[in-house]
Amino acid sequence: MSETDPDPPYPKSIFASKLTEHSGITELMDDLGEALTVGKDSLRMMGGGNPDHIPAVQLLWRKQMEALLHKEGNEFDRVIADYDQPAGSPVFREAVANFLRNQYGWDLTRDNIAVTNGGQTAFFFLLNRFGGEMTGGGEKRILLPIVPEYIGYGDQGISDTDLFDSRKPFVEITGERRFKYRIDFDNLDVNDTHGAIAVSRPTNPSSNVLTDGEISNLRELACEKGIPLIIDNAYGLPFPGVVFRAAAPVWDKNIILTLSLSKLGLPGTRTGIVIARPEIVREIRSMTAIVGLANNNVGQALVRPMLETGEIKQLSDEVIRPHYRARSEQAMELAEAFLPPEVPWRIHESEGAFFLWFWFENLPISGRELYRRLKEAGVIVVPGEYFFFGLNTEGWDHARQCIRVSFTQPEPIVRDGFRILGEVIREVYGSN
Ligand SMILES: Cc1ncc(COP(=O)(O)O)c(C=O)c1O
Repeated sequence: MSETDPDPPYPKSIFASKLTEHSGITELMDDLGEALTVGKDSLRMMGGGNPDHIPAVQLLWRKQMEALLHKEGNEFDRVIADYDQPAGSPVFREAVANFLRNQYGWDLTRDNIAVTNGGQTAFFFLLNRFGGEMTGGGEKRILLPIVPEYIGYGDQGISDTDLFDSRKPFVEITGERRFKYRIDFDNLDVNDTHGAIAVSRPTNPSSNVLTDGEISNLRELACEKGIPLIIDNAYGLPFPGVVFRAAAPVWDKNIILTLSLSKLGLPGTRTGIVIARPEIVREIRSMTAIVGLANNNVGQALVRPMLETGEIKQLSDEVIRPHYRARSEQAMELAEAFLPPEVPWRIHESEGAFFLWFWFENLPISGRELYRRLKEAGVIVVPGEYFFFGLNTEGWDHARQCIRVSFTQPEPIVRDGFRILGEVIREVYGSN
């Protein structure tokens, strides 16, 4: 073998092939990294779910960090120099349980709370806990009662089986330029092949907030089948609270609720929170210990005092939600200003989270091709196809006519991004 011959590949395990083949989330995170570093002068990042750097919030985290550094005793030293317990710091877990009990009356103790390295890791554990090959034989899948659903779940399965069984939504036209997805309960048939039902609420990418009625039906269906309802609350109430319509948060012992500190402005601390029955918490704790020993504990240390005083709720209600609501409204105005009126574009009702979800009816090219042309023109979005996993979308054009556009970057970038989106869309439809 000469020096220039490529090295022969090592045999690949199923685990490796599952986690290394082309995936939407890897492309998205690469784009995000590129746009925020080397390409920051030429690329407008409207793809990722990075939180905005809200000055008042940035300042607050600085203050919390300073308080931690200067706290009497050795708390800072313990935070950085000691491994956390794999379920998370007991005092943080206690603070989460007390806060949620005070807010909503949920019957929680710290035994119901597990910390993970971000909500993403929580979902990796949970999806593979309830889906895939089962110990008693057979396979289970995760029922996604509505897609589009969060791109980050799509490639998380490590069993050599299909992890998801997903359902199309009803697409309701709600205004001249608006639409909304609703769960099609007539087509849901929860059965013994399902190990859990999962939803994100608000939903990434569509910003849909499932109604209280929809959640109540899902709870009932899950309960009847003796499987959990997993609700990803990364943007939801009580924190970060990026929800723009009335929606009651829910938890009971048949629900597994995940929260995250990321959208509070702390994605770098990698902190997810799982609220579940104690036996599930113990399982998550084992998985954390085996995969990574312990979690990052900096986010827990910064946020705990604000859970204890309840300030986290004011921060979410009075700063974070109004900020993103205003950004969402501004983005919708920019869409009106820049998108060609003759094109049949629509936006999903903006009900929460960090994105506008566009549907371009009769789009002459695929969403992937639109993504490629936009990237060439200097704007990064996420093509819609990635969000419709677990479902054969052949014959359903809608799944190839959508893109996700994030509005959290500084206003001049978002404005410029919409200007380019308008130009590219005009060209795409014009050259039909
Ligand atoms: C719906 C949803 N769930 C989970 C995550 C994972 O976030 P993290 O791992 O930072 O908590 C994200 C991130 O964008 C998300 O949008």
